[in-house]
Amino acid sequence: MVQTADTGATAAPTRRIPATLIPGDGVGPEIVEATVAVLEALGAPFEWQRQDAGLAAVKRHGDPLPEPTLESIHRTRLALKGPLETPSGGGYRSSNVRLREAFKLYANLRPARTLVPGGRYEDIDLVVVRENLEGLYTGFEHYVPIGDDAHGAALAVGVNTRQGMNRILEFAFDYAIARGRRKVTLVHKANIMKALTGIMLETANELYARKYAGRIAFDTVIVDACAMKLVQNPWQFDVLVTTNLFGDIISDLVAGLIGGLGLAPGANIGLDAAVFEAVHGSAPDIAGRGVANPSALLLAAALMLEHCRLDELAVRLRSALVATLKDDGVRTTDLGGSATTEAFTQALIARIGYA
Ligand code: NAI
Repeated sequence: MVQTADTGATAAPTRRIPATLIPGDGVGPEIVEATVAVLEALGAPFEWQRQDAGLAAVKRHGDPLPEPTLESIHRTRLALKGPLETPSGGGYRSSNVRLREAFKLYANLRPARTLVPGGRYEDIDLVVVRENLEGLYTGFEHYVPIGDDAHGAALAVGVNTRQGMNRILEFAFDYAIARGRRKVTLVHKANIMKALTGIMLETANELYARKYAGRIAFDTVIVDACAMKLVQNPWQFDVLVTTNLFGDIISDLVAGLIGGLGLAPGANIGLDAAVFEAVHGSAPDIAGRGVANPSALLLAAALMLEHCRLDELAVRLRSALVATLKDDGVRTTDLGGSATTEAFTQALIARIGYA
């Protein structure tokens, strides 16, 4: 039996781990059902508490993040969620951002690994660690009227704290060392945003010298150069750590290197809970048609298993997924195949059965 570090739960096949399950919007319910079926086939000991969020919750509770959902996560400290729809511009505030704030989910972990050969880049194995609570995403922004134009100017204020920077950098270094990675690269723009991103560079240099020198390699790169280098030679990087906005952009770029959002998982790890999800959105254009690719959420479930110290199940899940995609050639349409979500899920479950 193993004590999990973050959930406080005891992780053994005989002991259940309570976890909140949020089907979400659009393709969410389809890929969540597929993922739950696969986790069941693996014998993962999660005891699901189903809760609403997003558009589904607005319709049912008048709030995209209703109280019962928050209470459930407070209890379980662990959640698997489908994508949630957020209106652009006006409308309600992003439930994803509210979840991050409510549970202080300060680290967004986005691994990107080549699973299906034959893409534009082979053998990609990168991890982006994005600061999730600070920077330009704090929402301190407003319009300033000029003359009779109510939107004459727009202002946004970013906030990065020493404590926040230290916390995310420690997370990145500790994660990299624990997972046997070779290097951490800090992505910044301290040549222009000297205070807002300079504080991360300054904190990283001090922290590395004090705590991590000799344990793992460390270097720094300016964000625009990083974007170019990732396209030219992504293999020079390993673990990238950066501020909120840069992390949002860089992690999508990295997902693009491995064939797009269909294979990109994300983990939001915090002081009070951990929430696992696919990086992609609710895909309204294909919702309800039974063709969504559940792979990204399945890979997020593998991260969730690792978080609960169920590494062996995570390895089995990833191997079965690779075998289904690569050896069996069963793929959904976004990956050039013709399998429905259901057919793909059944093929994966069959693989788990004889693995
Ligand atoms: P999207 O990621 O939902 O879709 C972009 C494209 O990728 C579409 O063509 C879609 O069909 C395809 N796609 C996405 N997931 C797929 C899957 N599993 N299988 C096959 N194809 C897939 O991005 P979009 O359209 O910009 O956003 C739609 C909604 O999702 C918005 O309301 C947005 O706010 C929300 N969203 C939610 C996120 C979350 O909850 N973490 C993350 C990103 C967007």
